[in-house]
Amino acid sequence: MTRRTRVLGVGSFVPDRIVTNDDLTQWMDTSDEWIRTRSGIEQRHWVEPDDTTTSDLGLEAANRALDAAGLSIDDIDMLIVATLSPDHEFPGTACFLQAKLGCPGIPAIDVRQQCSGFVYGMAQADMFVRGAMADTVLLVGAEIHSKAMDISTEGRDISVLFGDGAGAAVLQAVDVDDPSTQAHIYSSHLHADGNYAKELWIEGPSSTYSPNRWDNDFLERGAQWPKMNGKTVFKHAVTRMPEVALEALEANDFAVADVDLWIFHQANMRINYFAAKKLGIDDDDKVFNTIQRFGNTTAATIPIGLDEALKAGRLEPGMLVCIAAFGSGFTWASSLLRW
Ligand code: COA
Repeated sequence: MTRRTRVLGVGSFVPDRIVTNDDLTQWMDTSDEWIRTRSGIEQRHWVEPDDTTTSDLGLEAANRALDAAGLSIDDIDMLIVATLSPDHEFPGTACFLQAKLGCPGIPAIDVRQQCSGFVYGMAQADMFVRGAMADTVLLVGAEIHSKAMDISTEGRDISVLFGDGAGAAVLQAVDVDDPSTQAHIYSSHLHADGNYAKELWIEGPSSTYSPNRWDNDFLERGAQWPKMNGKTVFKHAVTRMPEVALEALEANDFAVADVDLWIFHQANMRINYFAAKKLGIDDDDKVFNTIQRFGNTTAATIPIGLDEALKAGRLEPGMLVCIAAFGSGFTWASSLLRW
């Protein structure tokens, strides 16, 4: 018997407010047709313009994941939160979420690997469990993008793509005799290349400024808004996602055709189309996309995908599931799971 980690339950949450592509035209020069054809996105959910925080969305998703796992917060001995839109610069969002969940004392860890954050978090949870530092880990990916984007025409290349939302998974230690049938994580594979850090980033506030983390024309320059070189991101995503997915399969002696369900990060439907084509996935039904309804929710796309696939009856016990992500950093990562 080998000590491994399995996903015991998942949950997700998006705010009620739906923002359609047509809705966006009141703030910027764009169109439903442009957004659909370039990205596949039809709508996204944004929080109301109130005091809702990223950890508030994380709390809802976490509680749903706990319910799905049949556990209470007292059963959790580690909390990991992946986000690029933290409640505050510090302390980490995991600490804010921990206070809301009511689990003081356990480790609370923030992961800052953007769109790959949930997969990085899954790898960390798996290693903490395999190393016996934790038995049951609550992993959350949560984002509020709507408060941190330039929704004028100047920022439209980015702001039409992103949505708010959260997803969570409860991961627990399991003794595995038969990996071909028992639910567990086979392996995770993590990569980054910081040479591309400024291809998708937010310039400030930053320690590059002096004497403060902002300078005088900070807001006028729009240094607080995310900036993206979309074509470069696209080019790398369609290479790195299939590459890291294959790495997971090869590490465990599986072939592409063995995978029952692919959950890719949801940045752009066209990226996922090219990734599936490169991998030679023969059956479109094996790729589960949610970007049409939620846009890119960064660290939350993978757990939202898992939860939505479950609700849609597309994810069943015993399935071989490959998840893969690519994003700012650049970072890219995959995990292979027996569900
Ligand atoms: N609505 C209408 N027009 C827009 C627009 C919008 N929201 N955003 C950009 N445009 C315009 C551009 O200004 C440009 O106009 P021009 O030709 O007059 O200069 C034109 O559309 C084409 O822009 P371009 O950047 O060439 O489009 P594209 O085909 O590269 O698609 C992205 C843009 C952003 C959809 C695409 O590059 C992409 O998806 N990149 C990856 C993004 C991503 O995955 N980000 C998250 C990573 S985790």
